[in-house]
Amino acid sequence: MIEIKSIFKSFGDNQVLRGVDLTINKGETAVIIGRSGCGKSVLLKLIMGLMKPDAGKILVNGDDITSLNDSQLNKRRQRFGMLFQASALFDSMTVDENVGLGLREHTKLPEKEVRQKVEEKLKMVGLSAVEQLKPAELSGGMKKRVGLARAIAMEPEYVFYDEPTTGLDPIMADVINELIISLRNTLSITSIAVTHDIVSAYKIADRIAMLYEGKIVFVGTPEEVKNTDNPVVRQFIEGSSQGPIPAL
Ligand SMILES: Nc1ncnc2c1ncn2[C@@H]1O[C@H](COP(=O)(O)OP(=O)(O)O)[C@@H](O)[C@H]1O
Ligand SMILES: [Mg+2]
Repeated sequence: MIEIKSIFKSFGDNQVLRGVDLTINKGETAVIIGRSGCGKSVLLKLIMGLMKPDAGKILVNGDDITSLNDSQLNKRRQRFGMLFQASALFDSMTVDENVGLGLREHTKLPEKEVRQKVEEKLKMVGLSAVEQLKPAELSGGMKKRVGLARAIAMEPEYVFYDEPTTGLDPIMADVINELIISLRNTLSITSIAVTHDIVSAYKIADRIAMLYEGKIVFVGTPEEVKNTDNPVVRQFIEGSSQGPIPAL
């Protein structure tokens, strides 16, 4: 379980997060929605320990990750899988090397077993016989899938997704949504996804939280989101320029 408690984060006088509170339960997929620039990626980086908050705590299975030192954090991150917006694959490395990176770096598994695991994870995301390709030879959707295979290669307890469907065509976006759902079901992964894609949020989320003006202003199931009369949430899900959220 992940407990985010009263998190504050500013950059100069840009107060991005102003007291974020949210609990993510074991086995669920929580989706944090909000406009571009509202602080979703910053929040995700704080949860992953890639950035430190100005104040507040983030408890992962009871341990405050904001107070861990680098080596403790590195160890903890081996239990985390991350899928970044641009997939963040290493261009000079093959698909096999990208997906197997964590296994080769952090485990003593023999090379044969690493290859097997890489193949198995690629299969889970619907890819085969791509091990020797370089990222430049892959389509956008394939890159996302390889990024996803890398995120789950170490069989993590938690997976964090930053805009998993942004930039994909609607069909490929749905393929990625389905994969996220199937990973939760088959590997019992607990996930946090941040996105401004409300269609994806409805599809993959057990619960949706909306980040607005530095705080979580609403948490509910997709059904509850669809039926809320919270004016901020309504404006966002309806994609309207009219309402409490300034269009700027
Ligand atoms: N490393 C950084 N240094 C300074 N400002 C940053 C940094 N990272 C993010 N920001 C600012 O924080 C705000 C939130 O950014 P971000 O979390 O990336 O938004 P999004 O919700 O689109 O993911 C933006 O105003 C951005 O400019
Ligand atoms: Mg972002």
